[in-house]
Amino acid sequence: MTSTSETGLRKGLTSYGDAGFSLFLRRAFIKAMGYTDDALDRPIIGITNTYSDFNPCHGNVPDLIEAAKRGVMLAGGLPMVFPTISIHESFSHPTSMFLRNLMALDTEEMIRAQPMDAVVLIGGCDKTIPAQLMGAASANIPAIVLPTGPMLVGHYKGEVLGACTDCRRLWARHRAGEMSEAEIDEVSSRLAPTKGTCMVMGTASTIACMTEAMGMCLPGAASIPATHADRIRAAEASGAAAIRLARDGMTPARIMTKAAITNALVVLQAIGGSTNGLIHLTAVAGRLGIDIDLEAFDRMGLEVPVLVDLKPSGQHYMEHFHWAGGVPRLLRELGDLIDGGAVSVAGTSLGAIAEGAEIVPGQDVIRPRSAPIHSGGGLAVLRGNLCPGGALLKRSAATPSLMQHEGRAVVFDSIEDMTRRIDDDALDVTAGDVLVLRNAGPKGAPGMPEAGYIPIPRKLARAGVKDMVRISDARMSGTAFGTIVLHVTPEAAIGGPLALVRSGDLIRLDAAGRRIDLLVDASELERRAMEWVAPSPPEGAERGYLRLFLEQVTQADQGCDFAFCSAAPPVSGM
Ligand code: FES
Repeated sequence: MTSTSETGLRKGLTSYGDAGFSLFLRRAFIKAMGYTDDALDRPIIGITNTYSDFNPCHGNVPDLIEAAKRGVMLAGGLPMVFPTISIHESFSHPTSMFLRNLMALDTEEMIRAQPMDAVVLIGGCDKTIPAQLMGAASANIPAIVLPTGPMLVGHYKGEVLGACTDCRRLWARHRAGEMSEAEIDEVSSRLAPTKGTCMVMGTASTIACMTEAMGMCLPGAASIPATHADRIRAAEASGAAAIRLARDGMTPARIMTKAAITNALVVLQAIGGSTNGLIHLTAVAGRLGIDIDLEAFDRMGLEVPVLVDLKPSGQHYMEHFHWAGGVPRLLRELGDLIDGGAVSVAGTSLGAIAEGAEIVPGQDVIRPRSAPIHSGGGLAVLRGNLCPGGALLKRSAATPSLMQHEGRAVVFDSIEDMTRRIDDDALDVTAGDVLVLRNAGPKGAPGMPEAGYIPIPRKLARAGVKDMVRISDARMSGTAFGTIVLHVTPEAAIGGPLALVRSGDLIRLDAAGRRIDLLVDASELERRAMEWVAPSPPEGAERGYLRLFLEQVTQADQGCDFAFCSAAPPVSGM
């Protein structure tokens, strides 16, 4: 394995049984690129290249790489760019979550295999920064994240638009017959008007803000728009910071401490962030041997108000958040809810960053604690006989009148079943029913796709129904909204209680009491459990990455990481 005492080109020599020869050979090969001995004797900073023609959220990566390289060289180091997997939400079959752990493995092993003293992780689209943080946490060499940054907003007939909250809202209007084919086509050219990540508080923005709150990227780096000159300057500064991190041995474990992880959870609540934020942070923390206590996170939700007024919970977009002061200003407003002693890759404490936040007169995007958007935080953890391992409800994006609700279950056995029947006019469903989707969890789908945003059945949508209680073992895009219970654990595909629900059963959601219950006798549920037959494995499950995934993926409460990748892997036979 890599010798930690060596630096630069001497790190992690290829095994030929003769270290001197390994270094000689390495130098000889790399000189083919025209490097001088002076360059090769500098500290080496790896820079991940996650550019891909399939990934518009990373469309600015080439520019960011150039600037990060400049920063490294100005600080006296040698930048070395290397590729890793790139994942875009809309170009990942069956779902990007299926590939997150593959990207984490790729990132970890390429950091470990190649000689670098620190690494700049350029990521942005939803699963990429979580994968990079997971990989960097396990490789444990100094690392700094450089988000690609959010897109600018779009405009349509006088309306401000943002991917992808407005994609869903307008598509729902199209489904309800309120927008023509021509109009929805025109809108498709306006929703994502620049390179960069979705500009609402979806998963990408949520993760970027949590990363900044954890101290893993420079102040402001979460929110600077992707196409602005400041983003390029942040890239240059990130390259220079990587040299300092390498010199000081500031590994991810020294920055992503328990206090830093807790700060990220506080920010997740305060931004009304994506439910995916919790899964990804659980996976990152798990790599460092830090457990996330769901009950403590739920209690935090009672104490931490939602302060950021961004879609889908509020009304603004990421560029407005940025000009209002971004994460530093939010940290300042959160005050003693944040552990100001946690450190940042900026070389200073979170407290100092909050203290130095820009004060923007008259801004109303980041509220003070005395005038929050929602008094309790964005996310609630539910328990109950339907989800012994927990489930999540994004309260800030739910309909208040549905938070206490009892309704008849309308069950869909799989995503395919839902797609086939949801718009059938013969479907026995009313607005007061509870839509249930199962076998869409980590193993069931597989990959726990973002199918939890079950569409309102077309006949009800046409009648003006905008929201219903919906329950699944799937995830939901951070850009989506509604009274939607997600991440039901354990999932149906491994025999969780969701597998036992039948259409017509009564389900009660009690958001205030933090419960979701199936109102069926325990003896009847026991009988149904005896009859339950596991769904057949998906096609191709006998080999390759799908086999590894199905064997190793954990449940949502464990972050859906691979079991063998946690900080302390279970010892075989124990
Ligand atoms: Fe990449 Fe939304 S699709 S961030």
